[in-house]
Amino acid sequence: MNKIKVEDKEFEIFLENDALNKRIRLLGIQINIDYEGKCPLFIGVLNGSFLFMADLIKEISLPCEVAFMRVASYEGTSSSGKVKELIGLPENIEGRDIIIVEDIVDTGLTLTHILKMIKEKNPASVKVSSLLLKPSALKYDIEELEYIGFEIPNEFVVGYGLDYNGLGRNLTDIYRATEA
Ligand code: IMP
Repeated sequence: MNKIKVEDKEFEIFLENDALNKRIRLLGIQINIDYEGKCPLFIGVLNGSFLFMADLIKEISLPCEVAFMRVASYEGTSSSGKVKELIGLPENIEGRDIIIVEDIVDTGLTLTHILKMIKEKNPASVKVSSLLLKPSALKYDIEELEYIGFEIPNEFVVGYGLDYNGLGRNLTDIYRATEA
């Protein structure tokens, strides 16, 4: 399907599942090389990262652990600018090699907050893998952003874990809004 409607909003096809999978395979290869001899802990940021995490982790041939945490800050199609508390951050991350797994980095506010909280627990290292990045929306300098799937324009996207008002996470492909 090339055009879909989620609630009141029109979307068109943007990144097909096949392209997502090909890119994720490459990210996995890169992580396998960079973390050779280590046992990274992947921490997914819910809800949006669950499908990306599932596909990324299947490409990892290293011993590794997986956990999820949650931050709620987004309503509708524009950031509220507010970040709430982190829920479910694993306790014992001191000395661990952490890879945060995000669906999308928009302004970078959420990620900056997450990184601050994680670093307070003294991990050995922290890097971020985000499926999508909107470089022109980025307001924070995040040097830990290492494994990016796709850089995309500053448009609202939905599908493959990403939602519009809670809907559309189940879509296999990623769609972009046809109007603002
Ligand atoms: P940031 O704090 O502005 O970087 O926003 C990050 C969070 O906003 C992501 O984890 C998503 O949950 C949400 N978000 C940002 N852009 C989009 C989008 O285009 N579609 C769906 N969710 C988005």
